[in-house]
Amino acid sequence: MRKDISLDLSKAAGFVGDEAIKRYADKTAECNAALHNGSGKGSDFLGWLNLPKEITEGQLSEIEESASVLRESCEAVVVIGIGGSYLGAKAVIEALSSSFDWLVRERKSPVVLYAGQNIGEDYIYELQELLKGRKFGIISISKSGTTTEPALAFRLLKTQLEEQQGVEEARRLIVCVTDKRRGALRTLATQEGYKTFVIEDNVGGRYSVLTPVGLLPIAVAGFDIRALVEGAARMQERCADGVTYEDNMAAQYAAVRNALYASGKKTEILVNFHPKLHYVSEWWKQLYGESEGKEHKGIFPASVDFTTDLHSMGQWIQEGERTIFETVISVEKMRHEVRIPANEANLDGLNFLSGRRVDEVNKMAELGTMLAHVDGGVPNIKITMPELDEYCLGELIYFFEKACGISGYLLGINPFDQPGVEAYKKNMFALLGKPGYEKETEEIKKRL
Ligand code: PA5
Repeated sequence: MRKDISLDLSKAAGFVGDEAIKRYADKTAECNAALHNGSGKGSDFLGWLNLPKEITEGQLSEIEESASVLRESCEAVVVIGIGGSYLGAKAVIEALSSSFDWLVRERKSPVVLYAGQNIGEDYIYELQELLKGRKFGIISISKSGTTTEPALAFRLLKTQLEEQQGVEEARRLIVCVTDKRRGALRTLATQEGYKTFVIEDNVGGRYSVLTPVGLLPIAVAGFDIRALVEGAARMQERCADGVTYEDNMAAQYAAVRNALYASGKKTEILVNFHPKLHYVSEWWKQLYGESEGKEHKGIFPASVDFTTDLHSMGQWIQEGERTIFETVISVEKMRHEVRIPANEANLDGLNFLSGRRVDEVNKMAELGTMLAHVDGGVPNIKITMPELDEYCLGELIYFFEKACGISGYLLGINPFDQPGVEAYKKNMFALLGKPGYEKETEEIKKRL
């Protein structure tokens, strides 16, 4: 039997008291039920709820087959996408890869690179330079199929691939993940005859990591998507409708973070002690930021990588404004073992550590930091992952998704839309003079 991820609220609950938590805890069952019976806000976007248990053998095999084509033919695969269309894949791939993946010479898997997640001209130039003369493939991901950043990157990289490999071979090395019918990417894929995967209408971008959006790039990188889905399915059971509050870690996390928010803790900092988890935090920030930041409400999701950031943000967290709480992702078991050697001269004074593992030092830094921050007035929620593997990451992903749905309903907002994201796009199109935006162009120019 696998050991599951777990939640410890003992260093957070005292900051708000049992009564305050109970007020939210009592509502979590209702919120969880609303997710499952579709009676809450945004009920058109609840397809993610059952993804782990509904995904079929056929769907998994199709993803693995498509990944094999890219794995066998490419040195590098560029995942093109932004927001929910790349962050989940990147989070899992970085968490499971060697920290020095770039420098590994004898690779078993293609290097996974990313594009379309920014519009930096130097970034795309440097990527194109790197890909010159190399055999590469493209996974182009856009649910709407109309997002500017990935569309621009796809135009550039598709052209380069066709020039380098010829149109026919490029066609074999391009896979698109998009809407079943709508959008420019669907039209293009149909016209060109690319292999495609569908993002169902009822799954929003930031809840899509357990669809081909996340699973295909993760499989290309050589990781076990079946174990990832198995972990997520386990968490689906653990947080299902009807599971009591005492047994439902998603409900507990949602209740406590809302109680903390109501008490004035406006910022939640997701903390890790392993740099490989950096992009898990980026994925989490998007999930919670885009889901909850509405109607002038919502916890601000921030993140730090410790112990690195203890030497920068550590001061602020220890003694700055007391409006924060921390959620720490703690990993129990390391994949590798490194022991500290003895040294005769002992000039660095570290002989008291000789023979002990580096992870023991890290764990004591983690414990010491938690106690110091709690003493400094920072509530601390702890999530323990037994290992950093596919199964535990699957559990973690579904846990955060489910908690986000419940938490959004506790807050009274729609956790499944993102109306605020449109504002910058409208201005950008007006400033660029996009056809159809003439009136907006005229208006925005007056403001300059
Ligand atoms: O969560 C979301 O819905 C967004 O972050 C989208 O994933 C992001 O804007 C990309 O959209 P699309 O996949 O339509 O290109």
